[in-house]
Formats: sequence, structure tokens, C-alpha cells
Amino acid sequence: MHKTSEWLQTFSTEKPSKSHSFDSFRPCVKISVTGGKGGVGKTSIALKTAKELATAGHRTLLIDCDSNLSNTAIKLGHPMDNKFEKLLSSELTFEECLILDGKFHLLPACNGSIEVFESKLHFDEVITDIIQTHQHEYDFIILDCPAGLSTAALTLNAFCDHRFVVVTPDKSSITDSYSLIKMLSNRFNVIENHLIVNMFQHDKQYQKVVMTLTETIENYIGVRTVVLGGIPKLDISAEGFDTFFLSEGKNEFHKNFVKLLHGFTEKVGEPLIRTSSAGHLAFEHDVQ
Ligand SMILES: Nc1ncnc2c1ncn2[C@@H]1O[C@H](COP(=O)(O)OP(=O)(O)OP(=O)(O)O)[C@@H](O)[C@H]1O
Ligand SMILES: [Mg+2]
Repeated sequence: MHKTSEWLQTFSTEKPSKSHSFDSFRPCVKISVTGGKGGVGKTSIALKTAKELATAGHRTLLIDCDSNLSNTAIKLGHPMDNKFEKLLSSELTFEECLILDGKFHLLPACNGSIEVFESKLHFDEVITDIIQTHQHEYDFIILDCPAGLSTAALTLNAFCDHRFVVVTPDKSSITDSYSLIKMLSNRFNVIENHLIVNMFQHDKQYQKVVMTLTETIENYIGVRTVVLGGIPKLDISAEGFDTFFLSEGKNEFHKNFVKLLHGFTEKVGEPLIRTSSAGHLAFEHDVQ
């Protein structure tokens, strides 16, 4: 098993690629959902992405990387059990800490754990070791990254094959995502990121965010931005938000999200397909 420190030492000017995968036949695609600023929708988008990939037939692991403010299990309606503490102390195995739902597997972290707070462990090393050990079991591993520019957050972002940078039209969100991309470029030579504009209120606002960010990033950092699309600001009460956001209803919102994800999966050579009840495979756009 490789430690992150070893991986960092071998880090060259190339961005991390699928060559990190142990499974050369069908490499696991690793994506971090990130953004710098807090509360922009990273966890919601990471969960929806992972669940949709699993529904489409891909073995998908979502790792909650918000080590001590983990929200993924809560958003799915599971109680917080802080089992992750016991994974760190080797009292439980990786499998024993997972929440399973078909091909969707979730590894929650902790919320308010004294053990994690006092732990001397480097969280990025813990996560990269888990990835290296289990990536051959999955088609996709999604990381729900914490807000901020901590070393752990940056390392995990750089370790992944792709980054979904979530930004809102808020000026501070735009500034924070720019800083994240700059740090990833300067420190880890990350040369490409994917952009998702969340909570936009009208098309003009979406276009403005996309133009401002992509041009500034290209001109001042020299990094490519692949625009995945936008998610509108939903007028839904806080109590009902997670259920609506994560449901697979036949509404426009869900269809648009699947379309956004389809653009990405096509690019990485993993078409978003669904297994129908009859066992046939159908492309997403054929499914109503
Ligand atoms: N498209 C949207 N429309 C309306 N509200 C949204 C949308 N996306 C996210 N939200 C609101 O933002 C809240 C925070 O979302 P989420 O927890 O996914 O953000 P986060 O970036 O992971 O936050 P943190 O930085 O704290 O981890 C949601 O609970 C929801 O109320
Ligand atoms: Mg979050």
C-alpha cells in the first residue's frame, strides 16, 4: 500500500492519471467534488452524482472527506454513528463502516468526534490509502471534499483524476474557487477542472459566472476549465431539500442533472447507461 507521502514524492509535472489505478483492465475513475467555499452544494452534488452513477449500473463508492463534519449519511436519512472512528483505530473494517444501497456504497466520516479531533492521523493519507486498497472494486470513487484550502483538501483534489468545482454566483464563492484552482495548479500542477454552477437564478447570471471564471482561470492561471453545466436555485424548504434533490423523479431538475452528468461520463468513456427492469441496457436519453 502506498502512502500519500510516497505519492507526493513521485509527483511530477503531470496531473495524476489513471496510471495510479491497480486495475489496468478497467481503471476506477476518481472524482473529487470540491469548491473552496462552504455551503455551495458540494455534498448534495457528490451524493446525487454517486447515486446516479450507481443507478446507471456503475459500482460507485462515495467517500465523505469532511472528516469531523460529515453530512452524507444524515442527508440520506441515516443516523450518525461515527463508526469511522473505529475504522481509524482498526476496530472495524472498511466493509463494516459502509452504508450499502445496491451499487451505491457510502463511507461516512464523523461528526463531532473527540477521537478524530485529537487524532494525529493525516486524513488525506487515510483516504488515499483506502482508495488505493479498494479502487479495484469500483468503477467510480467520488470524494465529497470539505470547504477550505487545507493541505488534506488540496492533496485529495490533486489525487483524483477529475475535479468537479462547485461554484455559486456569490462573489465569495467565485473568489474561493479561483483560489482553489490556483493553489492546485501552483502546488500540484493540476491543469484541468470541471465546473458546475449551482444555485443560479437566471440564464444570464449562469453565463456571467461561466465567462468570468473560465476566462480569468485561463488567462491568469493557464488552466483549462471544462464547463459541465448549471443547477438552478431550487425554491424548496430546508426540510424538503435533500429528499427532492436526491430523488430520481421525472422532473426537469433531475433530467437536467442526468444530462449534465452524461456529458462527463461520455467524455471519460463510461456512458451513462441504465439496466431496465427487463435487464436490457438503455442509454440515458432513451429513458423517460
Ligand atoms: N440548487 C440548490 N438550490 C437551493 N438550495 C440549494 C441548492 N444546492 C444547495 N442548496 C442549499 O445549500 C445547503 C448546503 O448544501 P451542501 O451541504 O450540499 O453544501 P456543501 O458545499 O457541502 O456545504 P459544506 O461546505 O458545509 O460541506 C443545502 O442543504 C441546501 O439547503
Ligand atoms: Mg459538504
